[in-house]
Amino acid sequence: MKRKHNLVVVPLIGAAMALTACGSDDGGSSGEDTGSSGESQAAEGKIGVILPDTESSVRWESADRPALESAFEEAGVEYDIQNAEGDAERMTQIADTMIGDGVTVLAIVNLDSESGAAIQEKAKSQGVATIDYDRLTLGGSAEYYVSFDNTVVGELQGQGLADCLGDKDANIVYLNGSPTDNNATLFAEGAHSVLDEMSNYTVVGEQAVPDWDNEEAATIFQQLYTAADGKVDGVLAANDGLGGAAISILEANGQDGKVPVTGQDATVEGLQNVLAGTQCMTVYKSATQEAGALADVAIALATGGEAETTGTTVDSSDDSEVPSILLEPQSITKDNVGDVIEDGGQKAADVCTADFADLCAEAGIS
Ligand code: BGC
Repeated sequence: MKRKHNLVVVPLIGAAMALTACGSDDGGSSGEDTGSSGESQAAEGKIGVILPDTESSVRWESADRPALESAFEEAGVEYDIQNAEGDAERMTQIADTMIGDGVTVLAIVNLDSESGAAIQEKAKSQGVATIDYDRLTLGGSAEYYVSFDNTVVGELQGQGLADCLGDKDANIVYLNGSPTDNNATLFAEGAHSVLDEMSNYTVVGEQAVPDWDNEEAATIFQQLYTAADGKVDGVLAANDGLGGAAISILEANGQDGKVPVTGQDATVEGLQNVLAGTQCMTVYKSATQEAGALADVAIALATGGEAETTGTTVDSSDDSEVPSILLEPQSITKDNVGDVIEDGGQKAADVCTADFADLCAEAGIS
């Protein structure tokens, strides 16, 4: 079953786009039309994006926001990017304000499917097209879904951990992402699909971390570690923040660097941990690619056109199919940290701070 789209898309007038000057306002987050003549037309084509929080991963503000700004500015469209700061009610309010301000396309990274679906329903009733950015809203009504192949992300994590552990018998702990995030389900499924095949591995603990909260992750990992009597040989952590939490507990037990830990997002800290050997791998998902894909889809919707997709994603809540653009994630180990820097995913200066200068030099990163 395909989701039904009977949305009226307000066409974006080319001239209005051309008139759009892209400056920053107070939050540094929007490309506002500073000219007066084109104001109302430009407002019709405005694209709103609501990011989820600043805590679950540094990626949203450090990678996604600048990549989205560049993509929209390059396309010459007016935009407004806000962050819900982990508060679903706040996301709902931001969405209402954006709709009131005349956005014609609204992209959200939901904080949970229920609130995301309600936002999308309301937007739809006002003739505003919606896009799921990075996270699929189960039971939602987004026209498109732009993300990475999240099952593959989990597979890369599982394979990365297996590569670090090798053939030995190993006890594994899973530190999964938020139970409210459909991606977290896919990451865990992908990782299990690889690791469950290995008869020499035993799962000795597995827990989801509410809201991807890094502090809570440390507490949860400590509990799982204690329950396993410290007999933990590998940690499947769903992102770099959760991985960092596990590493801090391993460090307190003198086990950092001895127990491989996975991650995701190729954050500065994650890459530094990979270089230092306390983290076995991370997964790089280019924000430039994801933001670029979002901009393309948003502009297609705003101009009444159709976006190019890579396929459809099945919404497991109702078996509907959502037209999707799913990008390819990349596994990063000590050997190819430089790829992230070459691709512009991080700056060498940020990763190769004084403490990491030697490790960077060894890895050929300058
Ligand atoms: C994203 C990850 C991110 C996590 C926490 C997931 O939905 O795909 O990249 O680390 O949320 O924000």
